[in-house]
Amino acid sequence: MRGIYLSTHKFGRDDKYDESIFCLGIYMRPTLEEIKRHRDQIRGYCLNTPTFRSAYPLNAGDKLPWFKGELFQYSGSFKYRSVISFLSSLSNVEKATGVCAASGGNHAIAVGLACQTMDIPATVVVPKTINAGRLELLKSTGVSIIFADDIASVFSKLDEVKQQGLLEIPAFSGPHILRGIGTLALEIYESVPDLEAVVASVGGGGLLSGLAYTLKAIGPNIAVYGVEPEGAPTISNSLKNGKPQKLEKIDTIADSLSAPYALDYSFQVISDYVDEIGIVSDEQIRSSMRWALSHLNLKLEPACAAAIAACQHPLREKLGEKNLCVVLCGTNIDLQSYQKLLENGL
Ligand SMILES: Cc1ncc(COP(=O)(O)O)c(C=O)c1O
Repeated sequence: MRGIYLSTHKFGRDDKYDESIFCLGIYMRPTLEEIKRHRDQIRGYCLNTPTFRSAYPLNAGDKLPWFKGELFQYSGSFKYRSVISFLSSLSNVEKATGVCAASGGNHAIAVGLACQTMDIPATVVVPKTINAGRLELLKSTGVSIIFADDIASVFSKLDEVKQQGLLEIPAFSGPHILRGIGTLALEIYESVPDLEAVVASVGGGGLLSGLAYTLKAIGPNIAVYGVEPEGAPTISNSLKNGKPQKLEKIDTIADSLSAPYALDYSFQVISDYVDEIGIVSDEQIRSSMRWALSHLNLKLEPACAAAIAACQHPLREKLGEKNLCVVLCGTNIDLQSYQKLLENGL
C-alpha cells in the first residue's frame, strides 16, 4: 500500500477536475488508516449494507457464495459512498457554492440524494435519453437537472456549468472513490469469514479500484475480479493497451457499465491490484438477472447481475471452490424495463 504513485501518462478529464491529485506525475492515494478513519467520518451518512450467504450455489457443486447487498445503499447503488466522500471533503464555502456532475444514471441519483441530505446545492447534466424511472428518482431529490442531447454532449454542457464555479464530482476516478469504496471493502472483509475472492462489475473502474486497493492492503491474498460486458470493455481494452482507452462503440444492456473511456487514476489502481477481468454477454447477464430473482428474490439491474454472470460463466472454474463475495452494486431499473429485459430471450 502506497500513499503516492508515479504515473507515466495522463488521459481524459482526470487532471482537469483535481490538480491536487496529479502533480509532477505523482498521484495521491489514501492509506488504509485514512480509509478506516474516513469510515468513522461518514458513518452517519451511509448504511452498513447487509452481507449474507446464499442458500443456493451459483453453479451446481460450488461453495455457497456470499453477497454484499450494496443495492440497499441509499440511492440504490454504491455510488452514494463515493459522493458522500467527496462532499465530506469540501470546505463550508465550497459547500455553499455547490457541486455538479454528469451522468446518465446512478451517479446523478447519488449526487441528488446526498446533496439533498447535506443541504448542498447541486446541478446534474443528464442525456435526454435517460431512463424514465431514473429520471423520476432524480427529480424526487430536488436537484437541478440540465438535459444534454446525448451522452456525448453531456460533458460539454457540464463544462458550461462548471464556469459558474460549481465543483464537479467525478463519477469513477479519484481519491474520494478509494476512500468511499474503501469503506465498502472494509465491511466485506469484516463480514465474510475467511474471504478468498471478491467479484464486482466495472464501468469506469471506480468500484473495482476502491475494492481492490483496500482489500489487497488488508489481505494481499484476497483475489479481486472485475466484470465487463462484451459490448463495453473499457478497462479490459485499457489493460491490453497499457493505458486508458476510449471506446468507439458501446452496445450492452448493462447501461450503468457504459463508461465511454477510462481515466488514469482508477486505471492505474486496477493495473496494480486487480487479478483479472471477466467478460460477459448480454444473454449471460439476462440469465443471471433471472437467477437472482428466483434464488435471491432480488430485482437487479443488468450492471449488477453482470457480477453474478461472471461467476456462472467466464470465472466459474476459478471461483467455484473459493470463499467468494459477489458485490450486488445496484438496483435502479424501472419495472417496465426490467420485465422487458427478462422476457427478451427467455
Ligand atoms: C449499478 C452499477 N454498477 C456498476 C457500476 C460501475 O461502476 P464504475 O464506473 O465505478 O466502474 C455503476 C456505475 O455507475 C453502477 O451504477
